[in-house]
Amino acid sequence: MEISGKKALVFGGTSGIGLATVQQLSDLGAEVIAIGRNPEKLTDVPANTTVKKCDVLDREALQALFAECGPFDILVSAATGGGRAVGPFAEMDMDGYQASFAKLWGYTNVVRFGLEHMPDTGSIVLVSGSPARNCNPGQIAISSVGGAVEAMVRGVAKEIKPKRINAMSPGLVDTPMWSAFKGEARDTHYIKLTQNNLIPRMGTSEEQAQGIIFLIQNDFVTGTVLDVDGGILLS
Ligand SMILES: NC(=O)c1ccc[n+]([C@@H]2O[C@H](COP(=O)([O-])OP(=O)(O)OC[C@H]3O[C@@H](n4cnc5c(N)ncnc54)[C@H](OP(=O)(O)O)[C@@H]3O)[C@@H](O)[C@H]2O)c1
Repeated sequence: MEISGKKALVFGGTSGIGLATVQQLSDLGAEVIAIGRNPEKLTDVPANTTVKKCDVLDREALQALFAECGPFDILVSAATGGGRAVGPFAEMDMDGYQASFAKLWGYTNVVRFGLEHMPDTGSIVLVSGSPARNCNPGQIAISSVGGAVEAMVRGVAKEIKPKRINAMSPGLVDTPMWSAFKGEARDTHYIKLTQNNLIPRMGTSEEQAQGIIFLIQNDFVTGTVLDVDGGILLS
């Protein structure tokens, strides 16, 4: 797909990977709508970009947003949806585990209600995560959510053809998602997390957005997952 002149909706477009995607779509000449629950946090708005408020878990609000903004060619969701449970499975807080699936429900809502507003040439990209296929101890919740996202992409791709849907799978990426760690503690944590990876550093949001842009541009790719993860699956 030639991105210039196309209309793109990016859920989770106010921070991290979503925001970098908004910036790159804007640079490539798209008209972009960046969406999150707190639009005011995006103070430096890229060119040709409108910021809107919507919670991906609110189906009525989502349908109203799509009706207002459609038709559109590009649909991206990087919205985390809510919190996530971490820790050993045998000690898991089961409400926390179930709540981690807010990411999946947000993605399913976005795809289910966004599809009808897209032409046959349309392209959808969701963001999964390396634990889907390389689950370290303590990551079972995010692993099972990511696995479900990737399974959904493969299944939905067959039903919506010729529209395309793909997932981009990040490794460990320096975004506001890690804001619980500050300053030196953050640097130390990042080194500990990544030192055994093939590329031993945190990824950048811009590198992730490049993967998303590839999946939008290449009309021969659907139903698959692109790993932009510093080789973490082999680490
Ligand atoms: N960073 C990593 O290391 C990493 C690794 C693997 C996978 N991922 C995945 O990559 C995606 C993006 O993560 P990120 O690191 O860029 O996170 P981030 O910087 O925290 O950004 C998350 C974005 O999602 C929005 N959002 C969250 N819940 C929402 C909801 N219910 N409705 C609408 N918008 C919502 C947030 O805005 P509001 O809070 O204002 O709504 C924000 O714009 C996520 O799916 C995450 O699981 C990240």
